[in-house]
Amino acid sequence: MVSIKTEQDIEAMRPACHHAADTLVMIEPYIKAGITTDDINDLVHDFTIKAGGIPAPLNYHGFPKSVCTSVNHVVCHGIPTNKTLTDGDIVNVDVTTIIDGWHGDTSKTFYVGKPKVKAEKVVETARKALELGIAQVRPGATLGDIGHAIQVYVEGERMSVVREYCGHGIGRVFHEDPQVLHYGKAGTGMKLKAGMVFTIEPMVNIGKAAVKLLGDKWTVVTRDKTLSAQFEHTLVVTETGCEILTVPSL
Ligand code: MF3
Ligand code: CO
Ligand code: CO
Repeated sequence: MVSIKTEQDIEAMRPACHHAADTLVMIEPYIKAGITTDDINDLVHDFTIKAGGIPAPLNYHGFPKSVCTSVNHVVCHGIPTNKTLTDGDIVNVDVTTIIDGWHGDTSKTFYVGKPKVKAEKVVETARKALELGIAQVRPGATLGDIGHAIQVYVEGERMSVVREYCGHGIGRVFHEDPQVLHYGKAGTGMKLKAGMVFTIEPMVNIGKAAVKLLGDKWTVVTRDKTLSAQFEHTLVVTETGCEILTVPSL
């Protein structure tokens, strides 16, 4: 069951969505060689609490930290640790904020120092994949149109799209219907309607699509240990297209 949010619901979601986006702006200058992903976690946690928000990942199905930090070949759901980032790494920071009971979910992959050629390739492809997925969103388009646009582009760049994890409806609940696959056939799947709110969050691997779940039951890595990158926005379908909700307030 996919809920249709009212105009009031959308207004109520804005603070959480703005805050999640502001968190990525806040964190960017800290992403440097020598910082640990625990440091990123603490900065995100404090920034959220100070705004009167709740970091949604903390204790979500037992997740132990306040943000996901996914480094290099980690695809998603990386758990912050005391290991330092080094020059040439890439790190996805995935922030979900709850304010007044509503969720905002957004992520971005950052370069640590100067990117290597392969890192830049996979990160820029993931960035554009999200953009192309968003460009499909309007009433009457289908979920398959989103997945298709992303898959055709990424595979055309000779990279691959992760199948096991997808975008999702979001609101008072962190993960709700629909599932937004990042691959598929144009014209298939559910028709989009104004008021639907969901994320698009393609994970792009420079190598093969296959992933593996580590023993901690959270960390997802590429099976071939090659780089993976991801970007995510929360958006609402409008009468004419869509509006990205996870934009900075400033
Ligand atoms: N923010 C992730 C998403 O985009 C979900 C993280 S769940 C967690 O859907 F428990 F790992 F935080
Ligand atoms: Co999400
Ligand atoms: Co997220």
